[in-house]
Amino acid sequence: MLVLGIESSCDETGLALYDTARGLLSHALYSQVEMHAEYGGVVPELASRDHIRRVLPLTEHVLNAANKTLPDIDAIAYTQGPGLSGALLVGTSFAEALAFGLQIPTIAVHHLEGHLLAPLLEDNPPDFPFIALLVSGGHSQLMRVDGIGQYTLLGDTLDDAAGEAFDKTAKLLNLGYPGGPALSKLALCGKPRFKLPRPLLNSGDLNFSFSGLKTSVLTLVNQHQPLDEVTKADIAFEFQEAVTEVLTTKCMQALREAGLTNLIVSGGVGANAKLREKLNAATQRKACKVSYPRLEFCTDNGAMIAFAGAMRLKAQQAQNRHDYSFSVKPRWNLSELQAP
Ligand code: KG4
Ligand code: ZN
Repeated sequence: MLVLGIESSCDETGLALYDTARGLLSHALYSQVEMHAEYGGVVPELASRDHIRRVLPLTEHVLNAANKTLPDIDAIAYTQGPGLSGALLVGTSFAEALAFGLQIPTIAVHHLEGHLLAPLLEDNPPDFPFIALLVSGGHSQLMRVDGIGQYTLLGDTLDDAAGEAFDKTAKLLNLGYPGGPALSKLALCGKPRFKLPRPLLNSGDLNFSFSGLKTSVLTLVNQHQPLDEVTKADIAFEFQEAVTEVLTTKCMQALREAGLTNLIVSGGVGANAKLREKLNAATQRKACKVSYPRLEFCTDNGAMIAFAGAMRLKAQQAQNRHDYSFSVKPRWNLSELQAP
């Protein structure tokens, strides 16, 4: 079965073709990041308009790259939510219209389920059950995953998500948007000089809190005006140490408490090299295994949506409806999902 996947929940248009027998055949991404950088964040209306410009050429691109044509597609998976409603509407309406034209089923995918399953696109994927750390611009969650659609939330952020904390701290250091990659690059030149708190490190539960860290960074920034490049790098270094230490400690705690040995990490912050270094070392010490998506599939992409859709299609969860009506879910809790 050949599944076309469409992602348009925020500022990236992602398309992919996944074959349930042969795996990922092709994928393509257009990032709007340069367009939004001028404004310091995503402008929803501009995002929607740009998705409209990209979705058709990218569809043609993935079909050509896989040597396929429209009638070869068996089903279309698309991100129904959560995300920006206008942006979601572009991918959703395009998917339903194309499926109507081809008279094939659609699969409405939860964006976070896409992220969550992305590590399974790689070789030697872990078996269920496993612990998942989902760290993106909007989420910092620890989950127990027993199967497709069987997600138990173990811990969540009480305030800012990990990626949000990276972005806000990067802004305080004048690193531009998006901040995560820029901050982690700068941290490479930093040295241990400052000491920031490790929020909720010993709270006993699996929750996170990152907004206090940002305030501590602000205090450091105010104390060291005018900020020189060395001080900026040292602050970035310590901030990254603090966030990755807390994330690693809680992942190990979750594995221990659940009595599991497999961990997967997904979402944009999962691309962070320091986080991977710490998680690799900690899991190795405890004879556990950690899996990540390849770097380009940590952030938003069409492949994860095609894959999640294909998993649900295999389990017969496609919506083979006749009216092809649609809606988007800008707010959608992952725990509302059901097993196929
Ligand atoms: O998963 P994602 O592409 O979008 C959401 O669904 O939110 O994640 C984007 C987030 C941004 O906050 C970005 O700054 C962060 O992931 N990010 C990073 C890195 N690469 C992306 N944070 C830290 N280190 C990185 N290397
Ligand atoms: Zn995402």
